[in-house]
Amino acid sequence: MDSTSTSNIWKDIMGNEATWQETTTGGRFAGKIIIVTGAASGIGQATALRIAKEGGRVIAADISKERLDALVEENKGLDLVPVAGDISTEETVAAVVAAAGGRVDALANVAGIMDNFAPIHEIDDDLWDRVFRINVTALMRLTRAVVPLMLDAGTGSVVNVASEAGLRGSAAGAAYTASKHAVVGLTKNSAVMYGPKGLRFNAVAPGPTITNIVANWGSQLAAERLGPLMQATVPTPATAAQLAASITFLLSDDGTNVNGAILASDGGWSAL
Ligand SMILES: NC(=O)c1ccc[n+]([C@@H]2O[C@H](COP(=O)([O-])OP(=O)(O)OC[C@H]3O[C@@H](n4cnc5c(N)ncnc54)[C@H](O)[C@@H]3O)[C@@H](O)[C@H]2O)c1
Repeated sequence: MDSTSTSNIWKDIMGNEATWQETTTGGRFAGKIIIVTGAASGIGQATALRIAKEGGRVIAADISKERLDALVEENKGLDLVPVAGDISTEETVAAVVAAAGGRVDALANVAGIMDNFAPIHEIDDDLWDRVFRINVTALMRLTRAVVPLMLDAGTGSVVNVASEAGLRGSAAGAAYTASKHAVVGLTKNSAVMYGPKGLRFNAVAPGPTITNIVANWGSQLAAERLGPLMQATVPTPATAAQLAASITFLLSDDGTNVNGAILASDGGWSAL
């Protein structure tokens, strides 16, 4: 089967994305320093832009230097600090934290990759390792580095991007599904551990969203089993800006009193 982007998969299944007009909240992030990973594309880019438009300084982390540079070039009036590198390495984690300059008000762990929908008996070790390294280990490492700063400050908000695949077994392959369930577990454990210290940990679970994420039907079994299920149930794909609306709500002080929540931002898919 051909490799194709998720965007095309979602578009094939459901047609074009929803139309929605973003309305910013002036000054919601004024004076705040916020790290966003995966900031050069899709949901991470929309989140970075929304925060910066609302007055925040964004430490924009992504593996693509070229797309980060383009983002900064196209948004010269916004406070975007690009840090290019593989966020699963300690070197990039250290560079991101250094760019924040000793204070991090909030962290959005958005960077992630899809798998090829393979069920467990068809898993390729390299893809399994890559999915877990980026979706789980990178998130753990960056959060591990940021939490001490938040503990010193006695405040902080972390939003992890999970997935519909963190809530159900029918949205991706075994590797991606397991990795996003791990993200949900890390979010809940951290919410419990650090809640009394003034830190909030929440996750957003996107449904189908039109971005540049790459996926492919690498399994005949998955295409036959999941294809019809998705065809029957997947809602209209969202725009990345719609996901940014959910993520920035939890990142901001409007999310006060919300800790340990896994917010499905999926047009109601998970309610089925
Ligand atoms: N698009 C969807 O339908 C959908 C659905 C559910 C969950 N998600 C999740 O949303 C998050 C964002 O995905 P997206 O759809 O915006 O995809 P995207 O591919 O458009 O953006 C992901 C970004 O992460 C960056 N990235 C990947 N690996 C990296 C690494 N090792 N270090 C630093 N940056 C890295 C990429 O360069 C890219 O800019 C992911 O965690 C994904 O699993 C997406």
